Amino acid sequence: MTEPLKVAVAGLGTVGGGVIRLLRQQSDLIRRRCGRAIELVAVSALEPPPDLAAELAGVPWFGDAVTMAQDAAADVVVELIGGAHGVALRMCETALEHGRHVVTANKAMLAHHGTALAERAESRGLSLGFEAAVAGGIPVIKALREGLAGNRILEIHGILNGTCNYILSRMRREGLEFEAALADAQRLGYAEADPTFDIDGIDAAHKLAILASVAFGGPVRLVPDNVEGIRHVTAIDIKYAEQLGYRIKLLGITRRSGALFEQRVHPCLVPIETPIAAVEDVFNAVIIVGDFVDRVVLVGRGAGANPTASAVVADLVDIAAGRHAPTFGVAVADLDPIEPAPLSARVGAYYVRLMVRDEVGVLASVAGALAAGGVSIAQFFQDRHDPGEKVPVVLTTHATDEASMRRALDLITGLGPVMEPPRLIRIEPF
Ligand code: HSE
Repeated sequence: MTEPLKVAVAGLGTVGGGVIRLLRQQSDLIRRRCGRAIELVAVSALEPPPDLAAELAGVPWFGDAVTMAQDAAADVVVELIGGAHGVALRMCETALEHGRHVVTANKAMLAHHGTALAERAESRGLSLGFEAAVAGGIPVIKALREGLAGNRILEIHGILNGTCNYILSRMRREGLEFEAALADAQRLGYAEADPTFDIDGIDAAHKLAILASVAFGGPVRLVPDNVEGIRHVTAIDIKYAEQLGYRIKLLGITRRSGALFEQRVHPCLVPIETPIAAVEDVFNAVIIVGDFVDRVVLVGRGAGANPTASAVVADLVDIAAGRHAPTFGVAVADLDPIEPAPLSARVGAYYVRLMVRDEVGVLASVAGALAAGGVSIAQFFQDRHDPGEKVPVVLTTHATDEASMRRALDLITGLGPVMEPPRLIRIEPF
């Protein structure tokens, strides 16, 4: 009988607890699938969680994760601590230096240090598994790297943050404003007390950077200038989008664009009939377009103890079974730098909503500003309103480059009757 794969787990929060329970509960299934047992040989956390007392009885305990990565008698170290640069990174580096494979759910660390960690792993013939870092329980890394290995990947777009999708879903269904929906997400434990990473698009940008690397075979590269969150999405824009046949979703989008690569995260209007528009609440979705396979749609839970544990254990099973793939799909030396296109180079349609004073010539001056910017109007309407109130004016454009759209918006912002900064949301037809 082959020796068990010995695993040390650092971080016993929601995901760590899920991993330990899954390993215990599915131990027979896992043994049959990888031909050997997976054995928990060490854990590290600040405090032992009381609800894991039975599972952790007799398992050596380390107060310090880096010490565990160095000293535990483990083949694999699982990093579930989080944080891009601190103890999580030191722990992974230490584990690799000591000849131990690493499995991590840490997208922030990979977005900043993924290529360097992959290089360390590769130079020692070790695995760096990160299925759990992107879209929780959706096996998107394996799908891209192994299942679609024969394809040139043309595009990936997806809902990569469940918190934002939950907030936008509640806003749409109940007409809530952003702050009220966020407060509910926090009360239910979906959003952190500091929700910045989620609602400002940073978490989705981390995941998109990892996906772009695997899809296009480049070093992991964050593009912070191409990231916008959902703080400025309002209930009224969700309502008008619906009237026009669209839903508003926070999407990560990466695609080949000539010699450059688009890599951007921002709210989008997507046609109601597209599959991604129907993905609601905390669910994630990833749509991959390959040149031979065409379109692949993956939907599932992007967070939570059980789905994320499912992804972590998938990596452990691969290591136990001796299956190994290059971290980002190709050897580190063969990664080709990905040059990201700036947002200003985007070409597409736009939704614009203005609040204007209802007076003679206001619509003509808005239309004139768009014409001066070289932007062609597709739809244009002024909503009903009471006399004396600000009037919502909503329009969509034909495809135009973002630099022209911005020029037109600057002109519109400077018009006397325009009473608030214009709201612009990109339309993605898919
Ligand atoms: N906070 C993330 C989300 C899950 O809301 O989708 C972990 O990446």
